[in-house]
Amino acid sequence: MAEPLLPLNSTVVWAALAARRRSLASRNLAELFATDPGRVERRTYEVGDLVIDASKHWVDDATQASLDDLAIDRGVAEALAAMWAGERINPTEGRAAAHVALRLPAGERFDVDGVDVSGDVHAALDHAAHLAQRLRSGEWTGASGQRITHVVNLGIGGSHLGPAMVHAALTPFADGPEVRFVSNVDGAALADALIGLEPATTCFIVCSKTFTTSETLANARSARSWIVDALGADAVAAHFVAVSTALDEVASFGIDPANAVGFWDWVGGRFSLWSAVGLSVMVAVGPDRFRELLAGAHVVDEHVRTAPVEHNAAVQLALLRVWYSGHWDAAAHAVVPYAARLSLLSAHLQQLEMESLGKSVRADGRPVEGHHTGQVVFGTPGTDGQHAYFQLLHQGTRFVPMDLIGFGHGGDELAGHHDLLLANLLGQAAALAFGRSADELVAAGVAVDDVPHRTFAGGRPTTTILAPSLTPSVLGQIVALYEHTTYVQAVLWGIDAFDQFGVELGKARATDLLPALASGAPIDTDPSTRALLERLRGWRAQR
Ligand code: F6P
Repeated sequence: MAEPLLPLNSTVVWAALAARRRSLASRNLAELFATDPGRVERRTYEVGDLVIDASKHWVDDATQASLDDLAIDRGVAEALAAMWAGERINPTEGRAAAHVALRLPAGERFDVDGVDVSGDVHAALDHAAHLAQRLRSGEWTGASGQRITHVVNLGIGGSHLGPAMVHAALTPFADGPEVRFVSNVDGAALADALIGLEPATTCFIVCSKTFTTSETLANARSARSWIVDALGADAVAAHFVAVSTALDEVASFGIDPANAVGFWDWVGGRFSLWSAVGLSVMVAVGPDRFRELLAGAHVVDEHVRTAPVEHNAAVQLALLRVWYSGHWDAAAHAVVPYAARLSLLSAHLQQLEMESLGKSVRADGRPVEGHHTGQVVFGTPGTDGQHAYFQLLHQGTRFVPMDLIGFGHGGDELAGHHDLLLANLLGQAAALAFGRSADELVAAGVAVDDVPHRTFAGGRPTTTILAPSLTPSVLGQIVALYEHTTYVQAVLWGIDAFDQFGVELGKARATDLLPALASGAPIDTDPSTRALLERLRGWRAQR
């Protein structure tokens, strides 16, 4: 039997890292650069089209050695090998997590539980591509024979965030029907999305891994009524497509099985955008562009699969997260893309990381003790973020490491803005790392009383990720990098990255409360919830 994993905080390497933290307390980042001329080259990773500058971090050679020891000690190489071996790396649900199989080139074998899934993966991809192509070409017509001009994706969580994020990022490549996204069960979301749409020319994609998610099914039922009211019950088949692992549930809902694309329980919701869950993206940009996205992710997969931990970008980025969380009290991590079209990236990464890493019980059932897991992930595109929360990041008391993402070329529109955008990215990273000292201010003639308020301590670490431009392939590379970084963090912390039991209790409570809210049925609940419920019922009774 395998030895139980030691609690992280009782390992020798954790103690070594604690000592490194103490020794770095009296230093600053400028000094780390000054004493280490090769620092930028050594701490920059080049993976596919990505240039990942991790030089502005609190890592000297001794710290790096301990971080690498930590990866070896916690079995990161073995855990990565287990992912590509299709092993059940989601032990609490007894499943593999084999999203890397979704971006494998055709003809390459990938075994899940000893069975090659590559044929099924490519058959489903081809099926989705065929549906997308029919919608794009106009071959697919609605019940009244008209071409489909608008497609609305109904899904939530992983069945929404990934495709919505990719769709927004790839706007310049969109040449198919207009695609809209609805996730929230708030009726306003669907109502707003339907503004200007005609039932005769609208097709819905109901995207749900389980096909039991209440928000998605409520939206799907309302969308079905919208179609049926205008076009009759027989119109459903021509206006609904489904993507799900539960094809029997799809059929019970009334969607033609020929218009449903499946995927598998070894694809986690937040890792599913590479499957037919990306159908809406395929409709917008075409299957070829979608395949470029997959190919980009595969480039990063190959790096992560083959590079030794010391040179493995995903492992090194994960080690930095654990280093800062465990020894620098970093409760949050900001992701700031200097690209307006990546406006949904941090929302996608928020689910990816927080649903994967928000655990206080280890994969082996023992409690997580003596350290935190996961971080609050947030962000908005730069430069917007600079005028919102950057004050806290520059001068606040909290320590918030960041990723800044930028591209050599922007879009074709107003290209003259791009230098200003990139200058902000570089300027922010430098200001965060190196600050502005009191001496500098005094030398510049700043009044003594003003100096403390205008001083920047610096020492705020960032990783800068650059690529030539935001193409489907580059986007695939970026997202795959974050996926692997998330998995490796879970391995380091000893938790299961692929379950999400924490979302269930709130859903169950909502189900209990629904009859009380809808029909005034009595409910046995806590005094605060009862008082709030009664207040809401009172208002609702007045209308
Ligand atoms: O938020 C919980 C969750 O289960 C996510 O993991 C998932 O992506 C989302 O709900 C949607 O689930 P489904 O695709 O089954 O509708």
